[in-house]
Amino acid sequence: MTQIEGLNPFTPGTGQLPPYLAGRENEQGRFRQILAKMSAGRSPAANMVMYGPRGMGKTVLLNWLIDEVEKTDTKDNSIRTSSATPNQLKNPAEIWGFLLSDEGWMEKLLSGETTAGFDAKVFFAKKWKEKSPTNKILLNTLISECKKNPLVFLLDEAHTMEPEQCHALLNISQQVQNEAPFLLVLAGTPGLAHFLTTVGASFVERSTKMGIARLDAQATADAIVKPLNEHGINIDDSTLAPVVEDSQHYPYFIQLWGEALWDLAKEKDLQKLTSQEIAEVETKIENRRSNFYEQRRATLDDLELLPAAVAIAALFQDTETTTRDYLKEIIADNLPADSLATQSVNEHLRTLIRHEFIWNPPDSILFEAGIPSLMKYVLDRQREHVQERSPTAE
Ligand SMILES: Nc1ncnc2c1ncn2[C@@H]1O[C@H](COP(=O)(O)OP(=O)(O)OP(=O)(O)O)[C@@H](O)[C@H]1O
Ligand SMILES: [Mg+2]
Repeated sequence: MTQIEGLNPFTPGTGQLPPYLAGRENEQGRFRQILAKMSAGRSPAANMVMYGPRGMGKTVLLNWLIDEVEKTDTKDNSIRTSSATPNQLKNPAEIWGFLLSDEGWMEKLLSGETTAGFDAKVFFAKKWKEKSPTNKILLNTLISECKKNPLVFLLDEAHTMEPEQCHALLNISQQVQNEAPFLLVLAGTPGLAHFLTTVGASFVERSTKMGIARLDAQATADAIVKPLNEHGINIDDSTLAPVVEDSQHYPYFIQLWGEALWDLAKEKDLQKLTSQEIAEVETKIENRRSNFYEQRRATLDDLELLPAAVAIAALFQDTETTTRDYLKEIIADNLPADSLATQSVNEHLRTLIRHEFIWNPPDSILFEAGIPSLMKYVLDRQREHVQERSPTAE
């Protein structure tokens, strides 16, 4: 008889809350403080810019925040959340649709603005061009809504914003925040930080920055073991140690491991996992991970940044962090001959950041590897390639 019941609880994929949200106590604490302030009717001191490489758990944290607001705030003046991605905010009308809870806002706008021949679409298009799709009536409506029910507006994938969209949101957030509790949370890949400085440098300086990085070893172990234990599946710390290491504390890989271990335990009807099962699962994980890496390597190749990536990967074999200047030197030494004519070293560096090969967390001036072990993969493939071309060479 099968002892292990139910569906696999692990969530390798995008944004789904994992069965055990591990290692984010600091981030959760910071958000709880902001919520408490807003709940008391006060504006947060600053907006939040959350960034980190793909698969680190940004969307999960946004989803946690929505749940947290719903769970803890049941008063009349409860906080409201609204969330979107930039592709849902293609024009000011859509932006206001996400910000205002009052569905009659369009009518209100029209009644305030209507003169003979007034056309809302033309009105908004003009505002968009002026980079200020604000309108006193809508702003005042949002301010009075926020005074009653503070708003947390979450924008995921914020690095894909167009400058116009970004200007519009920053403008609205600034005006509302002066008068009422309103929080804008922007979440995106490390390229978001640079994008924001190009759009509104002072906004980034004034925002709270939150880096979403890998977990620590204990949180990694907890993220795997706690859900397994809950389903009656046990694993010793020493058996788990190589799993924790192999996951590189990277949330996406942690879920891959958890899912595969759970499936195997269920299939074999095991209540205790041993090194034998770990070895079995490892091959499966390795295949999935190679596909994931190969896509990223192909992108670097398309961008003609593969030689630079290989050289950076070689450097990171012996270190966990490096400086911006050193990275720039390596990039300059490894670019195709004509490349610097069209793009500066800084731009190439930003491309590597945008593709998450490297990044620098907000609280550090040093750079670290973006997606862990992509570096090792890139290096291994390069060695294989060299071997294939000259099989006799050592
Ligand atoms: N703290 C955590 N503990 C355990 N698992 C987590 C944690 N955070 C995220 N995960 C898992 O990691 C994976 C990636 O999470 P998520 O989709 O939130 O990442 P992301 O940073 O938003 O990535 P992307 O930039 O691709 O959107 C998911 O499978 C999620 O369940
Ligand atoms: Mg995400």
